[in-house]
Amino acid sequence: MRIWLKRAVLAVAAITVVGGLGMGLSQAQNDPISQRKALMKSNGDAMKAIKAAVDANGPATAVAPEAAKVASNLKAAAVHFVPGSDKGDTKASPDIWANLGDFQKLDNDSAAAAAKLEASAKGGDMKVVAADFGDLGKSCGACHNKYRLK
Ligand code: HEC
Repeated sequence: MRIWLKRAVLAVAAITVVGGLGMGLSQAQNDPISQRKALMKSNGDAMKAIKAAVDANGPATAVAPEAAKVASNLKAAAVHFVPGSDKGDTKASPDIWANLGDFQKLDNDSAAAAAKLEASAKGGDMKVVAADFGDLGKSCGACHNKYRLK
């Protein structure tokens, strides 16, 4: 009886925690601006980590997971550029929605550059890694220059 009660209390507590998390998530999902900014911020952090490894001339093993993170962040970010979400606390240019095909191409190109960097990092040649890191940085800038307001 005692044990049963404890379990029941624990079960209710667990449901409360899960319910709370679920609500937090669905609220965040309703806010495409904060979703995409969080993903982009994670890109910035990953690029800093990669730069540190490149500047130190290794280890390449430190680069691969960060590059993979950038590739997946960029793929995930695309869906959060919802039409009409150019209002509010955002630097997204309204031009995005007038040129969605171009924007998505730049996003895919950048994700591909990140995947290429992940592969060269796994290969272990820091010269190639440094070159691919430079290309990845340029692909971020190619989109920011056109579609991110100053
Ligand atoms: C296809 C376009 C595109 C690509 C590619 C892209 N970004 Fe962005 N990025 C944006 C846009 C648009 C914003 C502004 C988002 C907003 O304010 O709603 C942004 C914002 C940011 C921000 C600021 C986030 C914040 O907290 O406000 C950082 C940091 C960033 N990007 C880093 C990167 C890095 C690093 C890469 C490359 C690995 C990259 N981005 C690739 C379009 C892009």
